[in-house]
Amino acid sequence: MENRLNKLLANYVVEYHKLQNYHWYIKGKDFFQVHAKLEDIYNGINGAIDELAENILMIGYKPLASLKDFLEVADIEEAKMENIKSKHIFKEVLKDFDKLLKDVLEIKKQADEQNLYLISALMDDYVKEFSKNIWMINQVIED
Ligand SMILES: [Fe+2]
Repeated sequence: MENRLNKLLANYVVEYHKLQNYHWYIKGKDFFQVHAKLEDIYNGINGAIDELAENILMIGYKPLASLKDFLEVADIEEAKMENIKSKHIFKEVLKDFDKLLKDVLEIKKQADEQNLYLISALMDDYVKEFSKNIWMINQVIED
């Protein structure tokens, strides 16, 4: 469980920076709208990073806390440093969020089996948040 939680934490950190990268490098007529929305989303992830690390501590495990460790453990790919259109951003974010939701659901299942109620309840928040974002991004993509 400790490794799974740390992998989720590491992926949150990478996703946070990836969304900020897109916030900076988005190019196109919808810049203002998407630029602002990406900030909303990465601020949410930033809150989740702190929350998840503190919950890892609450159950007696050690959260990773260095960028080197995060990059080593994460399996979400970083974004390139180049201009990008919103269509490609949303496709990539959707792929990441689908993967993260799957990871969160697996952690929830395992937490329930181990009677880790704190972690199970925390995962409920992330299931809700990723599901909401996935739904919204799909609405944008299927324009
Ligand atoms: Fe900004």
